[in-house]
Amino acid sequence: MANIKTKPAGVLPASWYSTGAIYELERRAIFAKCWLLITHELRFPAAGAYAKFTVAGYPFFIIRDQQGNLNAFLNVCRHRAFPVVLNDEGTANILACKYHGWSYGLSGKLAKAPRFDGVDGFDKSQYGLFKVHLKVDERGFVWINLDASENVQVKWEELFDSVDTQSRLGVFNMKNYRYDHSWDMDGEYNWKTLIDNYNECYHCSVAHPGIAKVTNLESYDVKTTNGFIEHYAESKGNPADVSGNVAPTYLFPNSSITMTDHYFYLMRVVPVSATRVSMQYEVYRNVSSTDKDFEEMDKFFKQVENEDKYLCTNAQKNINAGGYVTGPLHPHREKGVLHFKSLVKRLLVEHGEKEKASSGEINPAKRSPDDADIAEEELFCKDVCSRAGGGAGCTW
Ligand code: FES
Ligand SMILES: [Fe+2]
Repeated sequence: MANIKTKPAGVLPASWYSTGAIYELERRAIFAKCWLLITHELRFPAAGAYAKFTVAGYPFFIIRDQQGNLNAFLNVCRHRAFPVVLNDEGTANILACKYHGWSYGLSGKLAKAPRFDGVDGFDKSQYGLFKVHLKVDERGFVWINLDASENVQVKWEELFDSVDTQSRLGVFNMKNYRYDHSWDMDGEYNWKTLIDNYNECYHCSVAHPGIAKVTNLESYDVKTTNGFIEHYAESKGNPADVSGNVAPTYLFPNSSITMTDHYFYLMRVVPVSATRVSMQYEVYRNVSSTDKDFEEMDKFFKQVENEDKYLCTNAQKNINAGGYVTGPLHPHREKGVLHFKSLVKRLLVEHGEKEKASSGEINPAKRSPDDADIAEEELFCKDVCSRAGGGAGCTW
C-alpha cells in the first residue's frame, strides 16, 4: 500500500468531506494556523470603524485605531468571555462589554473594569483583548492569522509570496473602489466541496450558461503557486457584454478575490460544521462606474454563485449518503482542484502526525493561560478526556 504522503494528491475520499473529526482537525491544522484573507482596508475608512467575523468557529473583529492602524482581536471579553463586539460592523470610540461593563480602547487595552480598582493583585495591564496577527498586503487586502504564538508557524510568504504583485492586477487601481455591501447565504455542504468547485471551470459549459456566453471556455486555465491559484480566461470580446478585465484569484484555504473594472468582490467559504458553510461575500464598486455597469456585474456574479450552490448542495447529499467515495480528476481541467486537495492533505497529515506524537490535540489558536494556578485543573480535564477515549466533548 502506498504511503498516505506519497499517493497521488487528488486522493481525498468522501469521508474527508463529511466527518466531524476531520473538520475539527482542519480547524486546528489549517484555520488556527494559516493566514486567512478576510477583507479589504477600504472597509475601515476612519478610526473606530470595525467589522466582526467568525471563521471555523473562531470569533474575532478588525478595527482601525486612533493612529490609523488596523488591529484584529479575539471577540472575547477577558473577564467572563462575553463577545465585546455585537454588531456585524459599525464605528466605536470605545469597546464596552455588555455583560459587566468592562471597556477596552481601540488598541485593545483594558480601560475600565468597574469596581475592580480596590481588588488585591488585579493588574489591568494583563487583561487587554487577545491580539490576532494581522497583515495588510500591497493591494490593501487584510489577512489574519489566529496562531496564538508570538511568531506564527506558517509565514505569509510561504504560501502567498507574490500574490499581491501579480502583474495582471496592475490595471486595477485600488484607490478607485469603495466598499459597497456584504451579503451571505448558507450552504448545506462541506467547505471543500465549494472550493473544489471554485477551482475548475470544467463545469462552466454545463452549469453556467452566463459564463459560457461571455468566456472562451477552451482558453480557461489556472496557474497554481503555493497557496494561491490564478484563474485565466479569454473574454469572447462582445462589446455588449459586461466583461473587460477580470482577474479571479483563489487564496488557500477558503477565500477568493475577483477583480473587475467596475467591481471587485471577496468570497469567504466559512465552514460551520463538516457539512455546512456560510458563504460570505463583500462587494466593492468602482466609484466612477455607472449604476447600470455595477448592477449588471453584481447580478451576474450572484447568479453564478447561486448556480454553484445548487451544484455543491446536490453533490454533497450523495457524499453524505455514502453513495460515493472518490472519482477521477482531469489532470488539466481539474488541475486547481488537485492542487487544493494536496495542500489540505499535507497540512492535515503533518498536523495529525504531530498530535499523534504528543498524544493529544494541538490547537495553535488556543491561548495559554497567563495564570499558572489553573495548570493543574487543565491537566485534570486532559486526564478525564484521555480516560474517556478522547470522544465527543473532549476539547484536548
Ligand atoms: S464578560 Fe465582559 S465585563 Fe464581564
Ligand atoms: Fe461555478
